[in-house]
This record gives sequence, structure tokens and C-alpha cells, in this order.
Amino acid sequence: MITSAERVTEVNSASPLKSENSVNDLTDGASITEPTKDVVAPSTQWSVVLREATLQDLASLQHIEQTCFTTDRLSKSRFKFYIDAQHAELIVAERVPSNSGSYLDKNKQGVNSIVGYGLLLLRRGTQLTRLYSIAVLPEARGLGVAEKIINNLGERALLLGKRFMRLEVAVGNAGAITLYKKLGFSQFGMYTDYYDDHTDALRMQKVLVPSKSVKAEVYPWYQQTTDFTCGPSALMMAMCALNNRYEMTQEKELSLWRTATTIFMMSGHGGCHPVGLALAAVSEGYAAKVIINQDVPLFIDGVRDIIKKAIVENVESQFMEDARKKGISVEISDWRTDVIDQTLKTGGAVLCLISTYAFDKKKVPHWVAVTSCDPHCYYLHDPDASEGQPVEYQHIPVAREDFLRLASYGTRKVRTLVLLKKKK
Ligand SMILES: CC(C)(COP(=O)(O)OP(=O)(O)OC[C@H]1O[C@@H](n2cnc3c(N)ncnc32)[C@H](O)[C@@H]1OP(=O)(O)O)[C@@H](O)C(=O)NCCC(=O)NCCS
Repeated sequence: MITSAERVTEVNSASPLKSENSVNDLTDGASITEPTKDVVAPSTQWSVVLREATLQDLASLQHIEQTCFTTDRLSKSRFKFYIDAQHAELIVAERVPSNSGSYLDKNKQGVNSIVGYGLLLLRRGTQLTRLYSIAVLPEARGLGVAEKIINNLGERALLLGKRFMRLEVAVGNAGAITLYKKLGFSQFGMYTDYYDDHTDALRMQKVLVPSKSVKAEVYPWYQQTTDFTCGPSALMMAMCALNNRYEMTQEKELSLWRTATTIFMMSGHGGCHPVGLALAAVSEGYAAKVIINQDVPLFIDGVRDIIKKAIVENVESQFMEDARKKGISVEISDWRTDVIDQTLKTGGAVLCLISTYAFDKKKVPHWVAVTSCDPHCYYLHDPDASEGQPVEYQHIPVAREDFLRLASYGTRKVRTLVLLKKKK
């Protein structure tokens, strides 16, 4: 998370240096071996270049963390982890004497030659990145270092196919909020009691490639409380989309699960069946329709035990029977994504079964709620935030071209949607 830490008083021992020129000319040099241009900060006689962090920077990074933050600090081992991590971009801003030949000259590197850093986390399988932390030493502030770091991280993210940068910032961190707004971030949510010191956080997002149709406001997210209740959790979110007074509780989560579960699924408790979820939605007063690309049974392949397999098959056919009795439409067709677009456009809500393979390399069937779509992406609320911060699981952008791959489960490539509408 972007930490809440109080801003340290700007000492600016050298001078205020709020020079437009020095700001603009700071060299990005992220992956270059020499800075393309050295720009001298007027009275400090140094310039700044950006590059990827290495293990040699650990002491400097820790020094920045200690100096710039009073809470939620990253430890040395976390920095070490992020330097090596595939899913992270950690860059440092290095101060070099303006007359120095090479900024990579190790002899000239000391703890204080690194004046700032930025850490971006990449969410696998999505187009989302998260500015996890950024800090600039007080003596280097006001020179555009942070701006350069964020822009550089944005460029890196784009090169890696990512299109969104999100962050959290303490409500009282006015300087940082001004910085983010200047760089095109806008607020799309809020967290109360977010940081170690109990301050609240604004959630901000920047679209790295402009996409006007991204909704700033999305319906509430709910975190599943067991590892088998993604179905009812996604369903509650979808019902919330249709009725903002719908209350999402664990009690409801479990009771909806009992209506919708196949009892067994893979090795553990049963997950939810699309028709079961539609029945649960109808019992809550909504209209529901199911589309599946093949006939039931859908979930017997993953169940090894022959008795359990028979139970799942039995439950699936009971669901079909109950749906018939309740007039729920179950369409067996090889649906295309335009049905999602159409449902959202006409004020409906969509649940989709995905395989978590693209996210975590585990082939588990998983229910998500589709929050919105635009010409580039579908956006998902994923109720399972067990391996990260909630913010990484909310309104996740998934490129249209990746969506159908994600929305396909198992060797039989089961693709299914539950479409909800308010009852007329
Ligand atoms: C926030 C922080 C990273 C900014 O670093 P910086 O290098 O001084 O920022 P920049 O010089 O790139 O600022 C660029 C723009 O951001 C805004 N900005 C930055 N700091 C500001 C401040 N203290 N007050 C008002 N605006 C500020 C300005 O619009 C500035 O543009 P301008 O110079 O044209 O007016 C730095 O103050 C810091 O490390 N703070 C402590 C750690 C922290 O709070 N990190 C962010 C956690 S969310």
C-alpha cells in the first residue's frame, strides 16, 4: 500500500529549487546505462537519473523509508523481495554530480545518492498495476522527482501491457494528493481506517491509455469469508448493483451458498452451480437467466469419488428441474461476450464463472461479478482477496481479448454466465 506516513518537513538544505527547467530536464534513464542529459539543479550541482533498483540500493532504500515514513514502512527484506520479484517494478532516482562522467560509478554511490524510489506492483492476468509506494528525500523534493518516477513507472506498465495504475493515499497527505491529481489520477473510492495509524485512504486510479468509458463509481465489493463461497459473494455484489440497499452479510453468503451449492466440487466443499445461483437470486426477489455453453452436468469431472460424483450429478439435475418449475431460463448456447455488454447496458448485472489459472496458476472454478465494460476491457469484482489487498480484487480490468480465456473452466471448457435483472 502507499503508506500514510506524515510528510517530513522539507529541509531543502540547498535551495527550494522549484525550477521548471530542472524539473523538465531530469533524465529518465530507466534502462539506460548513461543518462541522456545531465541537468544541474541550480544550487546543488547535481542531477537525477532513474534506474531499476539493485541489491546494492537496499541501504539507501531503507534510509528513504525511515526518513519519509513514520508508519507502514517497507522492511529491508520486502525491498529485497521486490527487487527480485517478477510482478514488481522498483525504480530508484539517483542523484549524480552534474560533472560526474558516469552515474553508475559505484565508488560515487553512497546511501544519500539515492534520493527517491517508486514501487509498482503488477497484477498477473489483468491490466492493473498498483503504485505501492513512492518517496523522495526531503532535500530532493519539489524538483519533479516523484513526477518523473510515476511517469516512468507508467511507461513501464504500458510496455508490459498494463493500462491502469491505482494507489491509496492518506486523506491528509495533501502534497501527494496534489501530485497524483496533477498526473491524472482521480478518486474512485475510499477506505476507512486503512493504515496502521488508523487514518483513512483515498483510492485513486489513472488510466494509462485514455478510456473515457471507465466508470468512476462501481458497486460495493464483498470479500468471501470461506474458500468455497465465491458464488454467493459474487451474487450478493451483483444484487447490490441492482439494489444499493441490498445488505451483504456472512449470514446471507452462507444461506445463498446452501441454495446454490453442488455439495461437492473437486476435493473440498462444493462451489456453486450457475443454475443454483439463479435459483438463489430468484429466491431473493430478482429475475435471473443462465447461459451455459454445454448441457449439465458441469462439475463432475473434478470429483474423483464415485459416490460424490453421483451426488453432484443428482444435484445438477435437481437444479435444472427446479429452474424449470420456477420459470428460470437456462439457455444452452455458445454465448459471446456481447451478451454481457447488452446486459450491463440495459441495467442488468452479470456473474461469470472463471478459471483462476490466469491469476494464480491454480485451475479452480471461481465466480466473479462483472462490474462494467468499455471498448478495451471487462471489469471484475473478485470476492477472493485471500492473497493480497482488497484493492487488487476490485473492479479489475481484464482485456477483452483475454476475457474469454479467463471465462472458461476445466478441460471441458465450461463457459457460463448468470444474468440478473430487477423483477418488473
Ligand atoms: C509526495 C512526494 C513523493 C512528492 O515528491 P516530489 O519529488 O517533491 O514531488 P514533485 O516535485 O515531483 O511534485 C510534482 C507535483 O506534485 C505536487 N506536489 C508535490 N509535493 C507537493 C506539496 N508538498 N504540496 C503541494 N503540491 C505538491 C505539485 O503539483 C508538483 O508540481 P509543481 O512542482 O509543478 O507544483 C514527497 O513529498 C514524499 O516523499 N513525501 C513523503 C512520502 C509520501 O508521502 N509518499 C506518498 C505516499 S501516498
